[in-house]
Amino acid sequence: MPITAAPNEKGWLIETPGSLYAIGLDATGLPAQRYWGPSLPSDDWGQLLRGDTSPWRSDTSRPEEVQQEVLADGGVRWGVPGLQVVFPGGNQSLELRFVDARIDNEAAGQSTLVLSLADSLFAFSVHLHYRVRADSDVIERWMELESGEDAEGDVVLLRGDSANWFIDEADDYWYSSVNGHWGGETQLERGPLPVGDLTFSSRTGTTSHAANPWIMVHPQHATEEAGVIRTVSLGWSGSWHLTAQRRPEGGVSVTTGFGHEGVRLVLESGRRHVTPPSYGLATDGGFGETSRKWHAFAVRHLRPAVDELRPVLYNSWEATEFDVSEAQQMRLADKAAAIGAELFVLDDGWFGARTDDRRGLGDWHPNPDRFPNGLQPLADHVRGLGMGFGLWVEPEMVNPDSDLYRAHPDWVLHFEGRTRHEARNQLVLNFARDDVKQWALAWLDDLVSTYRLDFIKWDMNRSFTQAGWPENARDHGSLWLGHTRAVYDIMATLRERHPFLRIESCSGGGGRVDFGMMQVIDQFWTSDNTDALDRQTIQHGFSQLYPAITMCNWVTDSPNPITARVVPLQYRFHVAMAGALAIGGDLDSWSDAELDEAAEQVALYKEIREVIQLGALHRLGGRPGAGLTAVQYVRENSVVVLSYEPRRSLERGARRTVLRRLDPAAFYVDQRTGRRFSGAYLMQRGLVLHDELNTHPGNGSLRFSNRDYLSALTRLTRS
Ligand code: DGJ
Repeated sequence: MPITAAPNEKGWLIETPGSLYAIGLDATGLPAQRYWGPSLPSDDWGQLLRGDTSPWRSDTSRPEEVQQEVLADGGVRWGVPGLQVVFPGGNQSLELRFVDARIDNEAAGQSTLVLSLADSLFAFSVHLHYRVRADSDVIERWMELESGEDAEGDVVLLRGDSANWFIDEADDYWYSSVNGHWGGETQLERGPLPVGDLTFSSRTGTTSHAANPWIMVHPQHATEEAGVIRTVSLGWSGSWHLTAQRRPEGGVSVTTGFGHEGVRLVLESGRRHVTPPSYGLATDGGFGETSRKWHAFAVRHLRPAVDELRPVLYNSWEATEFDVSEAQQMRLADKAAAIGAELFVLDDGWFGARTDDRRGLGDWHPNPDRFPNGLQPLADHVRGLGMGFGLWVEPEMVNPDSDLYRAHPDWVLHFEGRTRHEARNQLVLNFARDDVKQWALAWLDDLVSTYRLDFIKWDMNRSFTQAGWPENARDHGSLWLGHTRAVYDIMATLRERHPFLRIESCSGGGGRVDFGMMQVIDQFWTSDNTDALDRQTIQHGFSQLYPAITMCNWVTDSPNPITARVVPLQYRFHVAMAGALAIGGDLDSWSDAELDEAAEQVALYKEIREVIQLGALHRLGGRPGAGLTAVQYVRENSVVVLSYEPRRSLERGARRTVLRRLDPAAFYVDQRTGRRFSGAYLMQRGLVLHDELNTHPGNGSLRFSNRDYLSALTRLTRS
C-alpha cells in the first residue's frame, strides 16, 4: 500500500519506490511533516511519527512552524505564510484544526491522501491532497479551499499556496535553480542557501524568462552522480512565487503557489478554489538521477501524447520573418522536404494586415494579398511533399491597429481611465472573460478544421500589466487565474476535438515552460536564441527538470542572426539533436553542400531520435559551453553520445568522455568504426572525441587538431 495511516490515525506514510514522506500531528494538533527523503525500513516508521526532534524555541521564534503542511497565517507564528485569508468582517487570523483523513488506494497505479482541516470560527475548510503513482517518486500536492454554503460573506484569499515542503536539518544547504532573460533562458545557478527567505517569482502572467518555478535543495558537494537532492516545482503557467525559508535554527521550508503579492481572489460562500499542483521529488543519486526521475514522470504522467516521437519540423520564421508569400513558402517547403523535414510550419505574418508587428494581430484570416487563394494551396503543396502542415498563432494578443480591437476595445486587460501601455505594439486579451475565451476557441477550432492543421505554435509575446477587468472590479485578481486556466482549457478542447493536432508552447522563446503547460502541449520553443554555443547552457538548464522530447531546437544560419557567431553546421546539428530536432534556417541561402550535409544529419537523427527523445539522459563533463562536455542517452541496448568541445586547448590535447550507467560486463560496438568496448572500459577510460582528428599527423609534433567547435555523435549498440 503506497499510503498508510498509523494505527492511532494520527500519522500517515506515503511510500514511493525510492522515497518516503511522513506526516504526523504536531503539538498544536495540525499536520506536520516528519520526514521527506530516501526510503527507510518500515521498522523506523514509528520513530518518524513520534516527531522526536524539537528545535530550540523562544518567545520570538517557533521554528517548528515551518514543518506544518499548511503555513496558515494565524495564531502565534512569524514565518512566511502559505495561506492567508480575510474573513467577513476583517478577521485575518486563521485557526485551523484537523478534521479527518481519507486514503484512496483504489485507482489504477495511483493513490491519494486527503487531509481535511477546518477553521474553528468560520465556515472555511482546507483539504490537503497528496497523490503518488506506483512508478514514480514524485509526490503531487495541491490544496482545495472551500468557503462553506453558510459563510456569511466573501472570504478574500491573499495567498493560497499549493504546498509547503520541509527539508530537515543538515550540515549545509545549497540550492539550484534557473534564471534568465529573453534569448538566454534557463541558466543554471547553484549557490549556498542564505538564512532568511529566498523568493523566485513571476509577475508577468506567464512562467517568465526570468525564473522557472522550481528549486533543488541539496548539500554543497552534490554531483551529477551523488547526493540527496530534494526538488520542489509548481505546475503553473501564469504568475507564481516560490519561497525557500531557511531558519536560523535549522531546517528549510519551500512554499510555492499561484499568483504574486497583491493578487487577491474572492471566494464567495459555496465556492471552492483548487490550487495548481506542486510536485516534490527526493532522490539519492545526485542531479543526474533527479533529472532522469523528473523526465520519466513528465513523459509518463504529464505529456498528453505519451510515447509518440516528435517529428523533424521546419519553421520559416528566421528565413522570412514577416515578409511571407505563397510562392516563397512553397519554395522553402520544397527544400525542407528535400532535407527530410516531416512538418512545415508557417510562422507569423500570414494573417490580417500583419506585415510587421504593428498591425493585424487579432484578425485571424489569411492575408488576401499574400495568400490570394487562402492557405489551402500552401497546405496542399506541403502535404503533397509528404509533410504535415502547421501555423503560428498568438491568440491571447491584439494590436490596437486591428479590426478586432476596433470592434472590442473592452476585451483587453485594462483599468478604466488608465493608459493602455503597449509592448511589442500589442495588448493582452482577457481570456478570463468567457466571451473572449469562446471567441478564441471558435476561430482556432475553425482554423484547425479548415486546414486540418497538424500543429500550432501558440506564441505569447507580451507580459501582463495594468491587469484590470472593469466588468468584474470586485475580483480583478481572478483574471490572473482565469486567464491561464482558459488557455489550458482551449488547448485541451482543441486536442479533444482534433486528436491529430499537436501544440508547441512559445512565449517569445522559452517564457512559458513548466509542468502545467506540459499537460496540454507536445513541445516547448526553448529560446529565440538559436546560437549553438548559447543553446548549450540554455539546454543544460532546461534538462534539469524537463525531458528532451519537449525541447524543440532549430538549426539556423551561420553567422547566427542574433549573435553573429559563426559555428560549423555539424556542431549546430549536434547541439540541436539533443532534443526535438528542427530546422529554422533560410534554406534558400544554404549551398548545395550544406543542404546535402543537412539531409544526412536529419536522416541520422531519425535513426537515433527514439534514444534521444525517450532515453535516460546523463550530462557528462561539467558546465557546457567552455570545455569538453557531452550528453549521453540510453534506451534499452542503444547508447547515443553527443560530445562538444567549442574551444580546443593546445595544452590539454585529446580528452576523454567517461560514460555512465552502462553494464560493465557487457560489450558495446561503435556503429561508425565497428570498435568494440566493454561497459567497464567506457565508464573507466572513456571515449575520445574525434579520434581521427586527434591522431592527424599534419601538425608536426602536435598530434591533435586545435580547431574550435569540434563535436561528435557516437552510437553504441550493446552486443
Ligand atoms: C516570438 C517567437 O519566439 C518567434 O519564434 C517567432 O514566432 C516570433 N515571435 C513571431 O512574431
